[in-house]
Amino acid sequence: MALRFLCHLLVILLVIAQINANLEGDALYALRRAVNDPENVLQSWDPTLVDPCTWFHVTCDADNRVTRIDLGNAKLSGKLVPELGKLERLQYLELYMNNLMGPIPAELGQLKSLVSLDLYHNNLTGSIPPSLSNLSNLKFLRLNGNRLTGRIPRQLTNLGNLKIFDVSNNDLCGTIPVSGSFSKFTEESFVNNSRLEGPELMGFVRYDVGGCK
Ligand SMILES: *[C@@H]1O[C@H](CO)[C@@H](O)[C@H](O)[C@H]1NC(C)=O
Ligand SMILES: *[C@@H]1O[C@H](CO)[C@@H](O)[C@H](O)[C@H]1NC(C)=O
Ligand SMILES: *[C@@H]1O[C@H](CO)[C@@H](O)[C@H](O)[C@H]1NC(C)=O
Repeated sequence: MALRFLCHLLVILLVIAQINANLEGDALYALRRAVNDPENVLQSWDPTLVDPCTWFHVTCDADNRVTRIDLGNAKLSGKLVPELGKLERLQYLELYMNNLMGPIPAELGQLKSLVSLDLYHNNLTGSIPPSLSNLSNLKFLRLNGNRLTGRIPRQLTNLGNLKIFDVSNNDLCGTIPVSGSFSKFTEESFVNNSRLEGPELMGFVRYDVGGCK
């Protein structure tokens, strides 16, 4: 009786371990399902494997947690998925120069290890999620060359480690924040947004008025 009970317990514990190991694989597999992949760059993303660390274009740390996704210039189209926000140790999300469309999921603001978010030269729409201001390790935020609309979230000025910020070639509107980390960015970061009104005049023009519906 006791042995039988222990066997059942062991099976249950193994199943739980397997589920944890597969959580990050599931998040990546959600991305695979949501995109079109004409060149089969995601062919190795096989959810029946124990963890995603053997998949191409994925890098893991010593604990088998995903730290990098390198899918720049991979001819992917389709949408980003909120599940990506579950990759707690992700440092580099490189999805530039594809043809991804739809919004940037607000859940990307949960990627607390993220250093680099490169989504430039896609076909993304919607606004820049204010939740990205929670990415306190972020150094590189490149969203240029999409079809993003709305204001530049003022909370992004709190990103103290931000070194490069590029939202050029979009359809953003409103004024450009100038405080915090934004004090070091030049006009280059913002060019070719025909509805963007220029730098916010501190204490003179309010950030949230004018021009932007
Ligand atoms: C971008 O997406 C729109 C649909 O939202 C589509 O009509 C257009 O062709 C796409 N642009 C490119 C370059 O594929
Ligand atoms: C930042 O994260 C906290 C905690 O998860 C959340 O409550 C808050 O809404 C987030 N900030 C933004 C601007 O989304
Ligand atoms: C702005 O748009 C023009 C016209 O499309 C283009 O020639 C120029 O390279 C763009 N500037 C930047 C910095 O991307």
